[in-house]
Amino acid sequence: MNSASNRFLSRRGFLAATTGLAISLPMRPARASAVDERSLKAAPSRARLAGPDRPPASAWAYNDSVPGPVLRLRQGQPVRITVENGLAEDTTVHWHGIRLPNAMDGVPGLTQPPIAPGAGFTYEFTPPDAGTFWYHPHADSLVQLGRGLAGALIVEEAEPVAFDRDVIWLMQDWRLAADGQIAGGFGSAMDAAMSGRVGNLVTINGMVPADQTVRAGERIRLRLANAALARMMALRFEGHRPIVLAIDGQPCKPHEPEDGRLVLGPAMRVDIALDMQGTPGGRYRVIDDFYDGLAYTLTTLAYDKAPSLRARPLDAPPALPRNPLPEPDLHNAVRQEIVLQGGMMGGGKLAGVGGMMGMAMPGVMGSAAWAINGMSMTGDGHAGMAPQFTLRRGATCRLTLRNETAWWHPMHVHGFSLSVLSRNGSPVPHRQWQDTVLLAPKDTVECAFVADNPGDWMLHCHVADHQMAGLMTVFRVT
Ligand code: C2O
Ligand code: CU
Ligand code: CU
Repeated sequence: MNSASNRFLSRRGFLAATTGLAISLPMRPARASAVDERSLKAAPSRARLAGPDRPPASAWAYNDSVPGPVLRLRQGQPVRITVENGLAEDTTVHWHGIRLPNAMDGVPGLTQPPIAPGAGFTYEFTPPDAGTFWYHPHADSLVQLGRGLAGALIVEEAEPVAFDRDVIWLMQDWRLAADGQIAGGFGSAMDAAMSGRVGNLVTINGMVPADQTVRAGERIRLRLANAALARMMALRFEGHRPIVLAIDGQPCKPHEPEDGRLVLGPAMRVDIALDMQGTPGGRYRVIDDFYDGLAYTLTTLAYDKAPSLRARPLDAPPALPRNPLPEPDLHNAVRQEIVLQGGMMGGGKLAGVGGMMGMAMPGVMGSAAWAINGMSMTGDGHAGMAPQFTLRRGATCRLTLRNETAWWHPMHVHGFSLSVLSRNGSPVPHRQWQDTVLLAPKDTVECAFVADNPGDWMLHCHVADHQMAGLMTVFRVT
């Protein structure tokens, strides 16, 4: 993103309110048996993405809010979420990263019929894992997600974990036209076969980020979620040392990220402990420099003048409690390989910087630019394709993801968390469980999981354009 293509990002001086960015942990009685009732309505709405002095953009929203409301659920507590469709097209809701019964997974034609306009569907599940997740439609995904339908889903630990503040940053990337409206042209051939629809405006919790007001000495649990269609991010916190506590909702050994940057492909989440060790009154930038030469300031940590909350720095943050994930049995594992193929030649991180971006091209929605193991499944999952492979319930699967293409792909598996074993032959240093594994061009990543949950499950790239254009498959657990 250069300054020319990102004129909206500099227009943040007028934004004063930061309250929308900080959500403190509500106190809720831990009554694990009662069913938590929630409701979501997807419908056309408007969003002031670029700030209060700009005309609002027409958007699609859950409960009239972009992003949708933060759903804070509790680990082990059953929830019933009633979804109403106020759009003029079919939709569903997928609870990204939650291990739940197949019928609740929200994939139209595969796990449920689509929710027709005016109709509804009730999702019921009990989140087994605490952590940071999110929800989004799984129908006409590129357009519905790209017009704003997404929200954070936080599952609180059964036993609360103490931080001074618990903050979510749900990041979305928009391609706005000159009039401030969301640009059309979803699914252009250019986007589909290259880096996907990377936009020109990044928001945090639905707004161009203002300064984030912080207090010296406080320890924040910051939940980062990349809800972009295609934009990858690599965040650096100037003057701070974030400690990674969880990846894709699953706790890991607390560690500093490699080269200090937090890399988030679309759909990925990272929870960090952020100790405010800066100076009262100081200002520190949060920089995204994923795309070479296109670094920009996402937001600024603005310290108030108050003296530090603490006389001396805190000890290193403790690990979060582990979730009840089944342990893979690597010695008796079934091996499967997923090979990613297709896309344009050349490659790199970003296509269409400058002139090519947003170029009018005939839509290729439904046509295939990509393939998995030689087969292209396009759309959202409704094409009744035979499963790529079938696993016996309870078996451990050693899954190799091999990227033969020249592009980056955040590969996402529904219904399971993958234990990430190695990348390009080197063991992954901290035990990591991920539902979305980012593959650089030519990367090979080996993962393992226990097929403990029966049903037909999606496995796809979370760059929405890639998913729609063939980088998707299904596997079955019987
Ligand atoms: Cu975020 Cu098919 O999922
Ligand atoms: Cu998912
Ligand atoms: Cu991809």
